[in-house]
Amino acid sequence: MRISQSGFALRRQQLMDNMSPGSVAIVPAASEVTRNRDVEYPFRQDSDFYYLTGFNEPDALLVLIPGAEGQVVMFCRDRDPEMEIWNGYRAGPLGVCNQYGADHAYPIDELDERMVELLEGKQRLYYSIGTNDNLDAQVRGWLNGIRKKARLGAVAPAEMVMLDRLLHEQRLFKSAEEADLMRAAGRISAEAHVRAMQVCKPGLMEYQLEAEISHHFAMHGCRLPAYSSIVGGGENACVLHYTENQDLLNEGDLVLIDAGCELDYYAGDITRTFPVSGKFSAEQKALYELVLATQLACIEAIRPGVPWICIHDKSVEVLTHGLIDLGLLHGDPEELIETGAYRAFYMHRIGHWLGMDVHDVGDYKIDGEWRSLEPGMVLTVEPGLYVSPQNDSVDEKWRGIGIRIEDDVLVTDDGYEVLSDAVPKAVDEIEALMAHGA
Ligand code: GLY
Ligand code: MN
Ligand code: MN
Repeated sequence: MRISQSGFALRRQQLMDNMSPGSVAIVPAASEVTRNRDVEYPFRQDSDFYYLTGFNEPDALLVLIPGAEGQVVMFCRDRDPEMEIWNGYRAGPLGVCNQYGADHAYPIDELDERMVELLEGKQRLYYSIGTNDNLDAQVRGWLNGIRKKARLGAVAPAEMVMLDRLLHEQRLFKSAEEADLMRAAGRISAEAHVRAMQVCKPGLMEYQLEAEISHHFAMHGCRLPAYSSIVGGGENACVLHYTENQDLLNEGDLVLIDAGCELDYYAGDITRTFPVSGKFSAEQKALYELVLATQLACIEAIRPGVPWICIHDKSVEVLTHGLIDLGLLHGDPEELIETGAYRAFYMHRIGHWLGMDVHDVGDYKIDGEWRSLEPGMVLTVEPGLYVSPQNDSVDEKWRGIGIRIEDDVLVTDDGYEVLSDAVPKAVDEIEALMAHGA
C-alpha cells in the first residue's frame, strides 16, 4: 500500500495554490548520516520532501514555482554506473522526470548555478530556514550571487517566508488515501502488540519481546518501526523514553510496550501495559483500570469543534479524582488540579498529532489559543501513571508501577475512529489472551 503518484502531484498543486504569485519554494531531501566508520544509519527520507515527491534518494532538492504553468523542478544525484555498482540504483534526472512527475530535473552538482537563475526576479522565497546549516549557507550564497548582479538589472527576492507554516498545516489534515494507510499502520502495529502479549513470559529479555514486534512489522511490509520501540519491564516502565530494552522480564511485574510500525512513511504509535506472567496484581489492576477509564473518557470526548486541550484537561480531571480515591493523592480535587499535584504521576500531555512523523507537524495553538479538532486530524490518546520507586509519599505497594495506554484516533465528520483497536486493553481481555498463549 503506497501513496499514488497522482496523490503526490495533488499535494504539490495544493501547496502551490497556497503560495503567492511570483514565488519559489525549496524543500531539501535528507542526507545519509554516518553511524560509524564506513557505515551509515538506514536512510530515512525527510518527511516534508517525501510528502511532496515520493522520492526516497538522498541529496536532492525540490523547487516549486507556482503560476499558470506551475513548474516542478528537481535536483538529484546524477546517474553513475561505477557508484551504482557499489551503492545501488539512482533514478537520475531523467528518471525523476519520468517516474516522479518533475517537469525539469538536473544533477545536484548544477544546483548553485541554476538556483541563482531560478530565484532571480522572484518576489518571495518559501524556505524553512534553520534546520539544515549547509543549505542555509547555500541559500545565502544564491541570494548574494543575485545581488552581485544588481547593476545588470538582477533582482533578488524581497521576502523570505517559512515554508513549514503552509506545508505543515497541509500535512496535519489527512486525505482519504492517507487515512487508509494510517488505518493499515494501526492494524499492523496492533497485531504486533497482540503477538507480544501471546509470547510474553518471565525469563525473556525485554529486547526479545522487541524482536517479536520488529518481526511482525517486517513480515507485514514495514521494515522498520516508526520510532525506537520501548519495552520496559517493572520499574523501567517509569522511564518515559526507556529504549535500552536490556533487562530481564520478571514474574509479578508489568511490562510497558510503546511500539508502532512505519508503513510507507506513516506511523502507528501504540502503547499497551500488561502483566509479564499474564495476571494483574490487585495494585496493578487498580492503577490500570484508572488509566483505562481515563483513556476511554478522553477518546469519547473527541469530535470536531472540541479544543485539543480539553482532551488533555479531561485526562487530568479523571486521573486526579482516581488518585484521590485510591489514596495516592490527598485533598480537594480542584485544588490538586490547580497546583498540578498529578504531575508527580502523570508528567506528559495526553498525546500529539500523528502522521508521517510520530510527533507529527502542525500547530497546537492558533493566535495564542488552543486549536479545535477538525475532521482529518489524527492524534494519539495516551494517558499514563508512573509511580516512581523513590516516591515515599505513597504506600510502598504502589511504587515502581508504570502504566500507559495509547491509541491512534482519526477525527471524523461527527466523532472519531480508533485506528489501533485490534489489540485488547480491558483487563479480562488481556488476561484471556495471555492465558491462551501463542
Ligand atoms: N512513542 C512516542 C510517543 O508515544 O509519544
Ligand atoms: Mn505517542
Ligand atoms: Mn507511543
